[in-house]
Amino acid sequence: MNEAVLGIIGGSGIYDLPGLTDLREERIESPWGEPSDALRIGRIGKTKIVFLPRHGRGHAIPPSEINYRANIDVLKRAGVTDLVSLSACGSYKSELYPGLFVLVDQFVDRTSRRDSSFFGKGCVAHVSFAHPVGPALQARIAEAATAEDLAFVRGGTLVTMEGPQFSTYAESLTYKGLGYDLIGMTAMPEAKLAREAEITYATVAMVTDFDCWHPEHSIVDVASVIAVLHGNAEKARRLVARLALDFPAEREPCPAGSHNALEHAIITAPDY
Ligand code: ADE
Repeated sequence: MNEAVLGIIGGSGIYDLPGLTDLREERIESPWGEPSDALRIGRIGKTKIVFLPRHGRGHAIPPSEINYRANIDVLKRAGVTDLVSLSACGSYKSELYPGLFVLVDQFVDRTSRRDSSFFGKGCVAHVSFAHPVGPALQARIAEAATAEDLAFVRGGTLVTMEGPQFSTYAESLTYKGLGYDLIGMTAMPEAKLAREAEITYATVAMVTDFDCWHPEHSIVDVASVIAVLHGNAEKARRLVARLALDFPAEREPCPAGSHNALEHAIITAPDY
């Protein structure tokens, strides 16, 4: 049996996941370097949970310095099959207001200085990535959010910027004009690496602000982001707990092909 293991990456404001039973901390070595923190491994109900705070405890690692490859690698080594990323995001739509959770299904990568693949010279692979979010995992998150009576929207496009500065007004108007729904600093290359690791991935984008395009909210600052995050953290924990309680014991095949993404992806000849 391929046991389903639920990984949770906590973004800004989510550095811990209280309520895990059989809790232990494990530091797993990775050939890709140092992950953001030790893994916290435990259970919610019967489901095995592996938690990693993306920025490290105390939020010491900025988005561009996160070792995304090491993070995904240690989660894979811990057996994670399904990964839920909890991420603070700015919004480009009036109807996507601070406090709302958006279950995004598309990403645009505007990052520029991050290692975004486990493959390279010597072993070349091109995984399919048209549908970066696992639809079955997302459906389960939607069911959990409904059961917990949380305000959420299903579907949306999240652009990832390099940061650490927030966008200029011109950039904000450009992304809005292009039809993107949300902006953040960390979904990429995390989602790409999860696909290469054959881990099913989904993002819960927690809206914290309107970036800087909105006439009534003309700047985004850390204080207002943090104020919303404090309210979001408890909701995110309830969501995860409900998701875990209703999670299947065995890994389900992913309709987007996450579970066997490498099957036809490696192009380098095996005897090269
Ligand atoms: N994270 C939260 N709000 C953001 C914004 N407006 N831009 C980029 N990342 C964010």
